[in-house]
Amino acid sequence: MRPIRIALTKGRLEKKSITLFETMGLDCVALREKGRRLILPIGTAEGAQCNAVLAKAADVVTYVRHGVCDFGIVGKDTLAEDGAGVYEVLRLPFGVCKFALAGKRGEDFYAGHHERSIATKYPAVARRFFAQKGMDVNIIKIEGSVELAPLLGLSDAIVDIVETGSTLAANGLEVIEDIQPISARVIANVASMKLRHKQMQSLLDDMTAAMAVAEW
Ligand code: PRP
Repeated sequence: MRPIRIALTKGRLEKKSITLFETMGLDCVALREKGRRLILPIGTAEGAQCNAVLAKAADVVTYVRHGVCDFGIVGKDTLAEDGAGVYEVLRLPFGVCKFALAGKRGEDFYAGHHERSIATKYPAVARRFFAQKGMDVNIIKIEGSVELAPLLGLSDAIVDIVETGSTLAANGLEVIEDIQPISARVIANVASMKLRHKQMQSLLDDMTAAMAVAEW
């Protein structure tokens, strides 16, 4: 049987994921010296126990959903947008931020009766949020630096991730309303959790123990 594969989200969550593995006692030298390689062995000095796969957040979910990776580490933001077909098995203590509705500082977003335009990288999250309020909004999908949209006059507000709040502040925007807290999660393939239960549960137990001893 092939080694367990763990898909890691490249970028912000990557370093903390490696710290988690090292706290579990796994050897991450190859992962730390990866160069341009995308599949790296992690494990004990005697030999690789599993492989880390480096991917973009949404692709982490896709690889786990299709069973070509057994575990994934990905933000709740990605799962809130499209996390169907995978198990969310562990909430991690890093990658902590929130979804928020934000707009220009000092403007009253709810004033008046016109239909609002909302720019976001997360249309499903935005649609759910406004559906709960019974508000019809026009959602405009943006791929990044969503803060630009209200500044350029494309939208009345944005639904986006806020971590420190400094991107909003630097662009004259402010939080109108918090939507949902976010942190990194471990996801698992449904079939793998049954077929490789012992091995996967043991890794999850080690992750849970490591979470408690390290500083995040
Ligand atoms: C995210 C998010 C905000 C920023 C928030 O963008 O979309 O722009 O981080 O962080 P802050 O509250 O600490 O300023 P990211 O850097 O992931 O890139 P993006 O513009 O491609 O979304």
